[in-house]
Amino acid sequence: MPERFETKTDQEEVKRQLAFIEAGRQFVVDLKNKLGRTPTACVTTFGCQMNARDSEKITGILADLGYKIVENEDADFVLFNTCTVRDNANQKVYGRLGTLHGYKKHNPYMRIALCGCMMQEETAVDKILNSYSFVDLIFGTHNLYKFPELFVQMMTRDITIVDVWESTTKIVEELPIVRKYPFKSGVNIMFGCNNFCTYCIVPYVRGRERSREPEEIVEEIKGLVADGVKEVMLLGQNVNSYGKNLEREIGFPDLLRMVEEIEGLERIRFMTSHPKDLSDDLIACMKESKKICRHLHLPLQSGSSKILKAMNRHYTKESYLELAMKIRKEIPDMAITTDIIVGFPGETYEDIKDTLDVIRQVEYDNAFTFIYSKRTGTPAAVMENQVAKEDIKVWFDEILSLVQECARKRTAMLDGQIADVLVEGMNEQDATLVTGRMSNNTLVHFPGDESLVGSIVNVKLEECKGFYYLGKRV
Ligand code: SAH
Ligand code: SF4
Ligand code: F3S
Repeated sequence: MPERFETKTDQEEVKRQLAFIEAGRQFVVDLKNKLGRTPTACVTTFGCQMNARDSEKITGILADLGYKIVENEDADFVLFNTCTVRDNANQKVYGRLGTLHGYKKHNPYMRIALCGCMMQEETAVDKILNSYSFVDLIFGTHNLYKFPELFVQMMTRDITIVDVWESTTKIVEELPIVRKYPFKSGVNIMFGCNNFCTYCIVPYVRGRERSREPEEIVEEIKGLVADGVKEVMLLGQNVNSYGKNLEREIGFPDLLRMVEEIEGLERIRFMTSHPKDLSDDLIACMKESKKICRHLHLPLQSGSSKILKAMNRHYTKESYLELAMKIRKEIPDMAITTDIIVGFPGETYEDIKDTLDVIRQVEYDNAFTFIYSKRTGTPAAVMENQVAKEDIKVWFDEILSLVQECARKRTAMLDGQIADVLVEGMNEQDATLVTGRMSNNTLVHFPGDESLVGSIVNVKLEECKGFYYLGKRV
């Protein structure tokens, strides 16, 4: 019997956690009296957009509890929302924990919590309990919604609270959220992943794939739009398999068409689209849409059919190229970006040549290149023929320079065009400029002030600076 997953929010659980927020406020008030000021809280996010969205949920709860939200980690409550997709993500957390320990020594009221993907790994939790025992609370990805309850436990007990679940069948949305940007927001449309690419830890730390009911997604987006959001990013590890565990027949393009109808919503993005499940209907849907942004992230991982097979990606060099070319032909202004892993076990320079060939043919608008990182528990970790570091370095550099050449060329093609740009903020270097994002994800800086932030304006692209533009409002 396949396990049954809930697809709707568990309202009882929402009520329970709201009651814990109510109870938790008293601890924050007590702390305020002791400190003589409002206690501060800082949430630091590692990893992907999913984690970023989860952090907004935690931040919302902390704000509701009465904390003043700050960016500085020398705060009264600090939470790290961790990632474990590559080893360097883990190392960063250990490094930063050392710094937190220093802060805690001079602030006896400080509390430190860890959550997210890395906490789903027993070895990481053991290491923290043994070597970083000053951490007060550890929880995982499946019980994030239980944070109010765990917070109350943490404030009432002196030991490290550890609550990590293997999996969950529940969906609990609708708790308070503080969004990082008023004008754009991520929206979870599904959780987990069933693909088990052989290098990847995500299915082990995020659990099985579960989609949310389309009505709940649409309601959430309507609420966001009413609150000033112009752009949403629909989030899932493989959005192209959206709907598979729902009772009714519904696919990702059907959901996109429902979201398109939402009045006041101006832009739709999504992440990530697995090439194996990208349908002709999705291409048609993107093509006819007025709101779906001209940007598709289509992770390649490797251009070699041999390596793709060993990675369990379910496509070949040829089928990927056919798909990418079809998209280039149908929607010529669509930017295509990708992820590439260099140094997967068994990879040789012959395989790298295939990857270079695909990059050359697709001419990516941008690409993230990663050095393969061995993740304990994944099939690739025990594969023979792990590749020598020196080879990886040389191959990585060659791939990176080709990727950059393509990205420069694609960016330069926009020169002189007029683009609609969502202004995201003031330019960090030059106070006379604002920074905005085009539909195809390219950044453009142009003269403007704070009042433009959050609006969509037309900008003439005047000067290409490699991967971004300088422009002028028209
Ligand atoms: N679900 C997304 C990927 C999420 S992880 C997808 O399938 O496209 C984001 C990226 O991290 C992946 O695309 C991959 O390129 C990279 N990645 C995942 N595991 C890795 C590992 N063990 N070593 C190096 N890079 C990895
Ligand atoms: Fe990892 Fe593959 Fe799932 Fe993406 S699709 S999260 S790479 S297992
Ligand atoms: Fe990292 Fe977890 Fe995302 S492992 S990439 S934060 S799903």
